[in-house]
Amino acid sequence: MNAQDLKTTFQRLFNAEPILVRSPGRINIIGEHTDYNGGFVMPAAIDKAIYVAISKREDDEIHLFSESYQQFDISSVKSLNKSENSWANYILGVADQLIERGYRLGGFNFYIDGDVPLGAGLSSSAAVECATGFALDQLFSLNVPKMDVALIAQKAEQTFAGVNCGIMDQFASVFGKKDQAIMLDCRSMKHIYIPLKLDGYKLLLLNTNVKHALADSAYNTRRAQCEQGVAWVSEHYPNVSTLRDVDLSMLEAHVKPKDEEVFTKCSFVVKEIGRLLTAAEQLENGNLQGLGNLMFETHEGLSKDYEVSCKELDFLVEAVKPLDYVLGARMMGGGFGGCTINIVKEEKIADLIEELSSKYLLQFGLKLDSYTVQTDNGTSLFN
Ligand code: GLA
Repeated sequence: MNAQDLKTTFQRLFNAEPILVRSPGRINIIGEHTDYNGGFVMPAAIDKAIYVAISKREDDEIHLFSESYQQFDISSVKSLNKSENSWANYILGVADQLIERGYRLGGFNFYIDGDVPLGAGLSSSAAVECATGFALDQLFSLNVPKMDVALIAQKAEQTFAGVNCGIMDQFASVFGKKDQAIMLDCRSMKHIYIPLKLDGYKLLLLNTNVKHALADSAYNTRRAQCEQGVAWVSEHYPNVSTLRDVDLSMLEAHVKPKDEEVFTKCSFVVKEIGRLLTAAEQLENGNLQGLGNLMFETHEGLSKDYEVSCKELDFLVEAVKPLDYVLGARMMGGGFGGCTINIVKEEKIADLIEELSSKYLLQFGLKLDSYTVQTDNGTSLFN
């Protein structure tokens, strides 16, 4: 994306001088469905991002234009409601949250473009929300703390997009750092950066190009199942407030007898929180094979126990498992489609993509997209 082109398009649409903002998509190396359970995650921001151009208006109106949808959406800061245009809700939801928290907004013109593939599980929606929060902060000099940009963005996803998501995606978009993975403790919100030294290997994303309709409702159901498990355990351990505080024996004793399915879901999360801690050690010690093995284990758990995978994702993970130049692979993000993340020897990437693309097409009649991603910095002004 080129800043000058962005400016020119904005000037053509709104005849005004914009502020430009970039906010990246994210990957997650390991630690899935742990964020809303007070556990750990290990995301990184990537070199695919959402770009926003914004300027003040004289009136109270909000004029949005989406490049991908080639569509305007017009409303007012005085009466913020959900739009019929779903893309606009990620933006309006953030404005609504800012107002809710007492920040004063005027009318604004807003243009959005980007190269984060939509529906691919790379958190394009979080990138839109964080770009919006940061852009409004800059435009109206609100002095919103960085952490609050992420929290407001998360809340907007919950209120205007209807997904009861955790904090991982928005945190990664705001706090990402080039060449670093973030190890975030979602209970204390403390984070450290771990250098992503991949020594001749690269992170390859394989996009199934499916997003099953189930995704959002199943996500909310899983979250509710985890909360149910916590409620049953906390009847016996009053200090327990999330699955982070729970171990497998507590689940065996107090959840399994009540509901086998809730038990299986909660067990996955407890194991995944533990797996991330081992994975962080492996990454710090340069043991990429160890990390890769844990990624395969995570996939197995997400597919068989947490049941958020799908046949397309399983196919792609199974296909790379026997290959000695793929150290690890798993589905990434909420599930039911999107991408797998793979650690692949650099010189084998082209051949692997070619081979898998034809196998995938044959099996599902679908195109396989692939991205060799680099990590990148979080939300910032774009010049
Ligand atoms: C989605 C949510 C995140 C997180 C992941 C699963 O990306 O937005 O908060 O829960 O799913 O790890």
